[in-house]
Amino acid sequence: MIIKHDVVIVGAGLAGLRAALEASRYYDVAVVSKVFPTRSHSGAAQGGIAAAMGNVEEDHIDWHFFDTVKGSDYLADQNAAEVLVNDAIPAVYELEHMGVPFSRTPEGKINQRKFGGHTRNYGEAPVLRACFAADRTGHVLLHTLYDQCVKNNVRFYSEFFVTDILIKENIIRGLVAYDMIGGEFTTFHCKAMVFATGGYGRTYKITSNAHANTGDGLGILLRAGLPLEDMEFVQFHPTGLYRYGILLTEGARGEGAYLINNEGKRFMEKYAPKLMELAPRDMTSRSIQTEINEGFGINGEDYVYLDLRHLGEKKINERLPEITGFCRKIAGVDPVKEPIPIQPTAHYSMGGIPVTIDSEVLADGKSQKVEGFYAAGECACVSVHGANRLGTNSQLETVVFGRRAGKAIVEFLKENGTEKADLPEDQIKTSIDRVEGIKNNKGDEKVGVIRHELQETMMRKVGIFRDEQKLKEMLKKVRELEERAEHLQIDDKGMKFNTDLTEALELDNLLHFAEIIVSGALNRQESRGSQYRTDYPKRDDVNWLKHTLAFKKEGEFIFDYKPVVITKFQPKERKY
Ligand code: FUM
Repeated sequence: MIIKHDVVIVGAGLAGLRAALEASRYYDVAVVSKVFPTRSHSGAAQGGIAAAMGNVEEDHIDWHFFDTVKGSDYLADQNAAEVLVNDAIPAVYELEHMGVPFSRTPEGKINQRKFGGHTRNYGEAPVLRACFAADRTGHVLLHTLYDQCVKNNVRFYSEFFVTDILIKENIIRGLVAYDMIGGEFTTFHCKAMVFATGGYGRTYKITSNAHANTGDGLGILLRAGLPLEDMEFVQFHPTGLYRYGILLTEGARGEGAYLINNEGKRFMEKYAPKLMELAPRDMTSRSIQTEINEGFGINGEDYVYLDLRHLGEKKINERLPEITGFCRKIAGVDPVKEPIPIQPTAHYSMGGIPVTIDSEVLADGKSQKVEGFYAAGECACVSVHGANRLGTNSQLETVVFGRRAGKAIVEFLKENGTEKADLPEDQIKTSIDRVEGIKNNKGDEKVGVIRHELQETMMRKVGIFRDEQKLKEMLKKVRELEERAEHLQIDDKGMKFNTDLTEALELDNLLHFAEIIVSGALNRQESRGSQYRTDYPKRDDVNWLKHTLAFKKEGEFIFDYKPVVITKFQPKERKY
């Protein structure tokens, strides 16, 4: 079956919906998504969306700009970071006017809380900058944007698993998807496309990410011969619920929660005496892991405590109802009365699809655009976060760059019309054959076994602390797993909601880019942001103040580099 739309957006999280909303003011837009839109992982974002509104105390856009760049360990492209912070305030007001139920100050303004790495006066002390709706900010943004898209007649295709994009002569033409409910392959034919396919936390065993976050968009792009940028930078959020990895918002520390070790000490005073628990995530996660490694974990185990008790029941219930519910229901811990066991959890990918500040996908990662193709949100690398993202800058990025993608598409279609380029029939056939090949493969390997080995070894060898030996071992392991994945056996031979098949397709995507995370980390002989090499513990601006680009050509990975855009803030030592 062939379905035609002017614009097709892949992914129904915040970036996809914001792009859809913008483009649907003028054109016919479809959103294709692996899950029902309001189940998208954006809905799991908790603590807030950053904007220097100054509603509660003095704040400035330039302070936000500085914090974002410093937080990124100076790898952010400053032209992009400047767009992010400048667009932040109008973007939040737009959301408010669409009906987002933000928490309020007593005077009725949007309330704001502290978050890691967000400071006043260029690093002096934490500032109240994150606009929030209790600890359900992503949830309310997602539902509001979904409502708005429905109102604008955006057409949704939910539970469609995109297998490949169709691109020829550097022009986007459409995509092939497996309709999980209908049990058929469907081709979407369009003039413009946005990828907003989210992150890949499921490459790791302990993660805050939904099961769906397998980085499918990135695997698809590599198969299409397009590059990925800065994939070695994987963020560990400091406070995942011990053993489960479920996010416990940094907003808790923003409200005043402590991190304590087995001696009952607030150990962050050793690592970040000025910002304490509100240091940026890379530092806070490393500090927690160091405490654990040095024997200061609780009961000698791999966790420390997040302590909310002194905040009092009223504030905990009002500001943090979601996470306290998780603690009670899942871990049997009542945060009003007990400290919460936490460990760092794989949370966010700074890297992704290289794009311009108007979200246009770059075929060479540098300057050559793919006509009609855009990417935004976590799957994209614009790069506003560089080597480490500040909390609440991701929700901001989704709406700012989702909106810019939508606006850029409107301009593109106004100039070029909506007549679509021909569909490449051979590529459609190759895509379907690949899926059928996986489904009908005869072998002795199981998806779950390979995925588990990948997640478990990535956690141990490519986690918070890395070194050459562990990375080389992991590289060997990924290659072994790729080889074993050629012998997968899919037991379900049907086409209706075949999760055995979709999990195999997800694994194929995970394995496609896992090698790039590992090789990128191995190549980068320095420590910067989330990449900490114990064998190269210093940042090396002489050799490594540059972005990594990785391509897959004829089965081989090729690495290239490009300079960082520096406009205002020269790299300095990062102290907090
Ligand atoms: O801690 C949190 O609420 C997460 C926010 C984020 O990743 O930006």
